[in-house]
Amino acid sequence: MSRRRKIYEGKAKIMYEGPEPGTLIQSFKDDATAFNNEKKGTITGKGVLNNRISEFLMTRLNDIGIPTHFIRRLNMREQLVRQVEIIPIEVVIRNVAAGSIAKRFGIEEGTPLPRAIIEYYYKSDELGDPMISEDHITAFGWAGVQDLDDMVALSLRVNDFLIGMFLGVGLRLVDFKLEFGRVYSEDDMQIVLADEISPDNCRLWDTKTNEKLDKDRFRRDLGGVKEAYQEVARRLGVLPEAGPMDLKGPQGIQ
Ligand code: TMP
Repeated sequence: MSRRRKIYEGKAKIMYEGPEPGTLIQSFKDDATAFNNEKKGTITGKGVLNNRISEFLMTRLNDIGIPTHFIRRLNMREQLVRQVEIIPIEVVIRNVAAGSIAKRFGIEEGTPLPRAIIEYYYKSDELGDPMISEDHITAFGWAGVQDLDDMVALSLRVNDFLIGMFLGVGLRLVDFKLEFGRVYSEDDMQIVLADEISPDNCRLWDTKTNEKLDKDRFRRDLGGVKEAYQEVARRLGVLPEAGPMDLKGPQGIQ
């Protein structure tokens, strides 16, 4: 396992060379960062939980015809994914004002938005992920007009589906971030959903109490971070049972 070639290490995940050409292994870390790496921490068990949650959500999305990079979960922390050419854009979809949009426009957190709002950020740690427009994306060549059309259409479908799925388990999908990649076949290119979908990159509030069950608990020092991620996994029916093959496994690895 240690001999595997590391392709890329990000803040929350490591990508290793996969077993077959065109595949990668996506390994989820317990590391957490916020505010572009200014705040750092470890949430024990987060990698295991996000691996399961993202597997579950990506599988459901695949089922309804959204192309994703996900192939299958390999073990507690790792999943096999298709190798994609990552488009260097973070697509944020918002249903309710929270976080940076609330601050930017002076809107009270929790105010429903008139309709889903899409924002784009350029993925660059050095620049602190600046917000960008569609014109920046096409003029600077990060994605073409058709790519952008595909990303918007997919983002809105993902949003509609996830709103309903989370509502079914008593969670309000306030906002979330998606990343996309290109997959090339002989004479074709397809845009697919990549990265992960987990409480690291979604805001999820309990529908009854408005309790935050996502990374804002870490960002804002609210405590109970791991418990919040566990609660999301539990509601989705993917909380790993404690046992030799489950939570005890990754604890041994750390
Ligand atoms: P924001 O309100 O801080 O702009 O965040 C909007 C959503 O995007 C929220 O669900 C958290 C997610 N997000 C990421 O996944 N990565 C990031 O780097 C940032 C800034 C936000």
